[in-house]
Amino acid sequence: MAELTTPAEASAFLARSSVPWHQRFQLAPGVYTPGVNDTDLLLGLAGVPADLSGLTVLDIGTSNGGVAFEAERRGAARVLAVDVTPMEYCGFDETRELLGARAEFLQASVYELPELLDEQFDLVLLLGVLYHLRHPLLALDALRHVVGGELVIETAVCDADVGRHAVGRPLVRFYPGAELDGDPTNWFAPTLRALLDWCESSGFAPTVLAQWPPGRVLRRLLRAGGPRWWAAARRARGAARRCVVRAVPTGSRPGWAEKSWAEWDLVVESRQIAAERRTSSSSGASR
Ligand SMILES: C[S@@+](CC[C@H](N)C(=O)[O-])C[C@H]1O[C@@H](n2cnc3c(N)ncnc32)[C@H](O)[C@@H]1O
Repeated sequence: MAELTTPAEASAFLARSSVPWHQRFQLAPGVYTPGVNDTDLLLGLAGVPADLSGLTVLDIGTSNGGVAFEAERRGAARVLAVDVTPMEYCGFDETRELLGARAEFLQASVYELPELLDEQFDLVLLLGVLYHLRHPLLALDALRHVVGGELVIETAVCDADVGRHAVGRPLVRFYPGAELDGDPTNWFAPTLRALLDWCESSGFAPTVLAQWPPGRVLRRLLRAGGPRWWAAARRARGAARRCVVRAVPTGSRPGWAEKSWAEWDLVVESRQIAAERRTSSSSGASR
């Protein structure tokens, strides 16, 4: 079980650590990792319950592991943390040892999960990852295979970027350079409407849990912190920059699988046709 360690141990750990700290989370009473992304704030916005007893949790893009260790602390029966980087890169291994945690780590890309995992998870977290992906729909399609209970997505949306006329319309902005937050590893941000449509198209029923506005307002809310900030983020409407969406798998097969001529069935069918042609031509040759 991930437990807090002593303040002295935690401070010594941070003093010798050389990993990039992206997340801020508690290691010991009063001792926090020095990242900017506050995992308590994030989990509050994501509506993650204080009690996860018995649940299985998949944290994709785990980075320093703050969310994964907290899920374990909240009683999750099994926590699997995934990232494309090796676990040493963001100090997942060292922090796990410090906290005496059991959370497992898999180095993989979100796209690979259906092939690598033979199970579905009660709670799947995709926090701060979607806009880093060059193939966001492929990721959602892949996630449909591993979400048993619910998927929580925290992501950038482009409503505040594309102007009032675009709010409420299913548009997606592409960022070929570092236009989104000065980070060249950010590629796409949908409008909130487009994100909901993406989820539906990949076989999920989505609901917006929170959205929050740009710049000055956001900074003021962040200073206020805690429940006031969460409540305001839940109320905010209009030109959002970020949001949290909860997506539950629908019973049926995703709609796109039935109708997309460029994917899935056609690919399968054309492979079958090619295989059948090979079989018939080899039997023809032997005649
Ligand atoms: C902005 S950080 C978010 C970290 C954490 N989830 C949070 O919200 O604090 C994005 C993380 O996603 C990881 N990532 C990027 N592309 C990924 C992919 N294709 N599959 C899995 N993880 C990915 C990055 O390595 C990085 O650790």
